[in-house]
Amino acid sequence: MSEERIQLKINGLPVEVAQGTSVAAAILNSGRTSFRQSVDEESRGPVCGMGICFECRVSVNGHPHIRACMTTCEAGMEVITFG
Ligand code: FES
Repeated sequence: MSEERIQLKINGLPVEVAQGTSVAAAILNSGRTSFRQSVDEESRGPVCGMGICFECRVSVNGHPHIRACMTTCEAGMEVITFG
């Protein structure tokens, strides 16, 4: 069985992932660990990986505060981190 691959952009750069990959995994696989900054300008990233902590929020297709760990990558998706 072959794995279907899709392309999206993270901070404007093309990334290819397997279908079903979470946005959080795609960001981490691209080498980033900082997803956003706290009000004290500290880097923040995924903690729980299951939608509870809200530390993984990014912009997806222009929508802010999307939990990356709860969002599945889609072809052509535009993801922006703030870390
Ligand atoms: S990692 Fe906790 S909500 Fe996404």
